[in-house]
Amino acid sequence: MRNIFENMQTKYNSVRPVTGVAGPKVFIETYGCQMNVNDSEVVLSVLQQHGWSLTEEISEADLIFINTCSIRDNAEQRIWGRLDVFKQMRKRRPSLIVGILGCMAERLKEELLSHTAVDIVAGPDSYRDLPMLLREFGAGSKQINVLLSHEETYADISPVRMDKNGVSAFISIMRGCNNMCTYCVVPYVRGAERSREPESIVREAKELFANGYREVTLLGQNVDSYHWVNPDNPTHTVNFAQLLELVALVNPLLRVRFSTSHPKDMEESVIYTMAMYPNICRHIHLPVQSGSNAMLSKMNRKYTREEYLSKVAKIKEVIPECSITTDIIAGFCGESEQDHQDTLSIMRMVGYDMAFMFQYSERPNTKAARHFPDDVPDEIKSARLNEIIELQQELSLAQNQKDLGKVFEVLVEGYSKKSKEELQGRSSQNKVCVFPAGNHKVGDYVKVRITSCTSATLKGVEVED
Ligand code: SAH
Ligand code: SF4
Ligand code: F3S
Repeated sequence: MRNIFENMQTKYNSVRPVTGVAGPKVFIETYGCQMNVNDSEVVLSVLQQHGWSLTEEISEADLIFINTCSIRDNAEQRIWGRLDVFKQMRKRRPSLIVGILGCMAERLKEELLSHTAVDIVAGPDSYRDLPMLLREFGAGSKQINVLLSHEETYADISPVRMDKNGVSAFISIMRGCNNMCTYCVVPYVRGAERSREPESIVREAKELFANGYREVTLLGQNVDSYHWVNPDNPTHTVNFAQLLELVALVNPLLRVRFSTSHPKDMEESVIYTMAMYPNICRHIHLPVQSGSNAMLSKMNRKYTREEYLSKVAKIKEVIPECSITTDIIAGFCGESEQDHQDTLSIMRMVGYDMAFMFQYSERPNTKAARHFPDDVPDEIKSARLNEIIELQQELSLAQNQKDLGKVFEVLVEGYSKKSKEELQGRSSQNKVCVFPAGNHKVGDYVKVRITSCTSATLKGVEVED
């Protein structure tokens, strides 16, 4: 297992954006999840190879790409709002090109292309085609490519990192999703699941480490179903636990995170692999969505409340210091008060460290939209969501209070929001820690003893070894 890529060639590419050079300039605006952030970095890489450079000033741009999200209706409404702004901008700058990328491009296709502010529409699997679409657009007509692929993983493209800190980067390990949760638009806009070849993932992690990065997050909609089959030797396969080990072995000073785990697919081998390598971060994002078996079944999540809880118990048994975070949907179709209470009770039982919480938003053409009435009134949805948020604040505070007096290794990401005298970074558990800067700099590991906390942040002081 460990020797598969021993003789691998490592090539060191420039991973920072090229700015301030002559030639056409692109401004990229990204919405949605981490996968979209990483996709924008792939897009920039493709464009840079064709002479474009990045600008952070929209007023300087020759081209605006907006990488969109369709997960909830309000995500799409924000994009329509932006298009109205671009329409105004174009009155002053008629040569400005506007392209829509990502999930909303895939979902709405020609409907977006027909908007007066839009010149190019490109879905998530068509980014290699962007230079061609731009050329064709230059020749005089609007362009669209929304074909989904069964193979595309952009494995050979080194994303150009647009993050500010140069410490932490995303690596996509797979694309698409086969799960068909009934509420979710992702399988329709991202297509079928496919796993990227492990060699290219390890190579990217090595390049990042060589360029000063100290943390990578392996990304997929369901990382636990990562499954790569060697096309030249189908008996050679790599699963997620094995991939995690390969990346952990790149360097003990490279932290490894991953997201998102699906409770139905997360195998014990992943938990044991985490336990074996201290540089695999002690944090699992394990979206529960609901604590009610009736809702989980209607959502097609394929696990029960009891199965979820036993997975959590296993994590806590093997890695007691592991933090657990989640996603929750309030007010799914037919959700009763009792179903909602079941969500509150599972939250208390797990004691989540953090959660992303949403009101259910019906997405056109999903199974839920086709078969289940969206029948929880808006005011009840939002009342339930508020209760969930309030409870989570209590839980986050209680979890953080448990950290008082403990020492965590913090990877420094930058100054704290409040002061240049303080640095901030995250613990292995993914909690934000703030401490007096001393002589430390971005990218250092610092041992910090926690002395106070809020529900969102830990504060502490450096301890000497
Ligand atoms: N693949 C990940 C989640 C991707 S989407 C997983 O399965 O866990 C991120 C989160 O958005 C989901 O976990 C869910 O909580 C939320 N979400 C997805 N579709 C939604 C919808 N139609 N309405 C409200 N929230 C939704
Ligand atoms: Fe959506 Fe479910 Fe796939 Fe997550 S696992 S992206 S919620 S269909
Ligand atoms: Fe949104 Fe697409 Fe991600 S719908 S959440 S940007 S996969």
